[in-house]
Amino acid sequence: MTATVSASAEMSGDPVAPASATPLIEAVHAGRVLGGTVPVTLVKDATFAVGRGEFVAITGPSGSGKSSLLYLLGLLDPPTSGEIRIAGRETASLDDDARAALRLATLGFVFQFHFLLPEFSALANVMIPMRRLGRRTEAEMRARAEEILAALGLADHGHKRPDQLSGGQRQRVAVARALANDPPVILADEPTGSLDSKSTGQVFDILDGLVRRDGRTVIAVTHDLDLAARMQRRIHLVDGLIVSDRPASEPVRTGPLL
Ligand SMILES: Nc1ncnc2c1ncn2[C@@H]1O[C@H](COP(=O)(O)OP(=O)(O)O)[C@@H](O)[C@H]1O
Ligand SMILES: [Mg+2]
Repeated sequence: MTATVSASAEMSGDPVAPASATPLIEAVHAGRVLGGTVPVTLVKDATFAVGRGEFVAITGPSGSGKSSLLYLLGLLDPPTSGEIRIAGRETASLDDDARAALRLATLGFVFQFHFLLPEFSALANVMIPMRRLGRRTEAEMRARAEEILAALGLADHGHKRPDQLSGGQRQRVAVARALANDPPVILADEPTGSLDSKSTGQVFDILDGLVRRDGRTVIAVTHDLDLAARMQRRIHLVDGLIVSDRPASEPVRTGPLL
């Protein structure tokens, strides 16, 4: 299967066109604490930068803050300390509309459970982020959705509703939706977490192709250490804290070497 989904010509209007080697996403002492009688710390003092074309795994035990960190990077939740920068731009001062526009144009999301709208066809689901961004005509949106679905091996399935597709096909539609606005970054939270091994392999190969062939950046939360080892870099969390950030081929070291 070819997963190449070509960058569209309008990338020239890309709000995050590379001016230099500025990282695409940066967390700078970013943290998130939920207030309340007993405050809950989700993420502590995360500082790292991710550039174009990186394939990054976020790993850690259940409850270690992986999803919380991904939601910070994706501007879905605001940090309560520190900041998240997209293409060098600080994001806290953006108003809701500007933040939503930046998110739609820059970041595509894939979740463990596909979150496709059940009453919509696959094609209509893929068109949703394009409709929200509002930069294409109906015909352009439809053509782009068909192009992406075809690139992900779903050319004959665009008219089907999610309940008429297999789990692996649904997750590929979710990847297609994430690619709708041609974002340079894909953020994925356990994208293969509910799939069998064959579909896991297909979805992983698609994500890998987005990095290797398209030059996109993919940051994926996974508890599958075999998959993490096939990515380039692994950020490991324990109790909301990054305890290791190294090439995925190297073992995670979380303490002093004795
Ligand atoms: N809205 C919330 N209210 C209270 N606790 C939460 C909330 N969201 C997450 N948590 C807690 O924060 C910790 C980190 O959660 P999460 O980021 O989902 O971890 P992971 O994705 O690594 O399993 C967990 O202990 C979780 O129970
Ligand atoms: Mg999670």
